[in-house]
Amino acid sequence: MEFVSLSFFSFFSFLLLLHQPRLLLSQQVYVDNKQLDCENPSNNNITEGFSCTGPRTSCRAYVTFRSTAVYSSLLSVAYLLNSQPYISEMTSINNLTDVEPLAPDTLVIAPVDCACTSSSPSYYQHNASYVIQESDTYFILANDTYQGLSTCQALMAENPYDALNLSVGMNLTVPVRCACPTTNQSSAGAKYLLSYLVTWGDTIFAIAKMFGVSGKSVLDANELTEKSVIYPFTPILVPLSTEPTKIVTAAPPASPPEVPSVLVGGN
Ligand SMILES: *[C@@H]1O[C@H](CO)[C@@H](O)[C@H](O)[C@H]1NC(C)=O
Ligand SMILES: *[C@@H]1O[C@H](CO)[C@@H](O)[C@H](O)[C@H]1NC(C)=O
Ligand SMILES: *[C@@H]1O[C@H](CO)[C@@H](O)[C@H](O)[C@H]1NC(C)=O
Ligand SMILES: *[C@@H]1O[C@H](CO)[C@@H](O)[C@H](O)[C@H]1NC(C)=O
Ligand SMILES: *[C@@H]1O[C@H](CO)[C@@H](O)[C@H](O)[C@H]1NC(C)=O
Ligand SMILES: *[C@@H]1O[C@H](CO)[C@@H](O)[C@H](O)[C@H]1NC(C)=O
Ligand SMILES: *[C@@H]1O[C@H](CO)[C@@H](O)[C@H](O)[C@H]1NC(C)=O
Repeated sequence: MEFVSLSFFSFFSFLLLLHQPRLLLSQQVYVDNKQLDCENPSNNNITEGFSCTGPRTSCRAYVTFRSTAVYSSLLSVAYLLNSQPYISEMTSINNLTDVEPLAPDTLVIAPVDCACTSSSPSYYQHNASYVIQESDTYFILANDTYQGLSTCQALMAENPYDALNLSVGMNLTVPVRCACPTTNQSSAGAKYLLSYLVTWGDTIFAIAKMFGVSGKSVLDANELTEKSVIYPFTPILVPLSTEPTKIVTAAPPASPPEVPSVLVGGN
């Protein structure tokens, strides 16, 4: 009898140990290119969205976006992301007017309202809407139009239309990935999380430097380690203690770095 209750107790503490730290301290898991497999939501549902585990069910969040030929002013980016209510804040953060043409690939910041969904399990998301155009697919919308701020899996979960049945003029809800700070992040001083879109050549430490935060806070926020690989068109969460300011990207080097020629073009 003694033995039974003891092992029962141990079993119980084991369960607590196993689950509590995750529930209380867990930050968000990096999507790790699982968003490429549209047919299969990953087994931890990370492709659906960041899980709603923080103490707050809604918050202000920020996302980044790179201007394109189509989305070439702050106002057009704001409409795409449903940030138009915050256009004046967006102009001041980015130090640009709402309609001035942006140089291609200008990295801009947009404020968004982030909230937990009413579904179970619940995810953090910001809702934008998008009207389907010729040759759009859920994947193209998530990866190309929204640059990785959404995923095909989350779009399919959100919209009633079959992936093979999308037609011009359909109005889709686009779940934009965002998150609210965890208890751990808040106690470390973070007020906001910014979803930064990775591009080629980025490293976690370069991203952290861009926003003036520690590399460790960014690694932790995405449950990554120094050895982790990150991919273009995936969002990385950056904890911020103040509102973000204009992103100043490092100018490209004047001359190409000297590398052994055997590495050039190597793949
Ligand atoms: C939470 O914060 C504590 C203390 O700062 C730290 O030791 C721990 O690793 C953090 N947990 C996570 C999941 O980041
Ligand atoms: C993933 O999502 C599905 C449906 O939304 C849910 O039934 C399942 O429990 C979720 N899995 C995990 C590990 O959260
Ligand atoms: C904002 O833009 C103006 C005009 O382009 C420039 O003169 C000014 O230095 C910029 N301010 C900041 C804080 O970047
Ligand atoms: C966004 O959409 C989801 C799912 O349709 C919904 O649960 C959530 O409440 C919406 N968020 C806001 C802020 O309207
Ligand atoms: C995602 O979009 C980018 C930019 O449009 C494109 O270069 C890349 O090939 C796309 N990824 C896939 C897997 O199609
Ligand atoms: C495709 O769309 C048509 C018309 O809206 C509808 O009748 C049909 O059931 C849809 N098919 C699927 C597989 O969703
Ligand atoms: C698409 O739907 C959203 C929300 O359901 C709505 O706010 C928006 O005006 C619609 N867009 C169009 C072009 O009908």
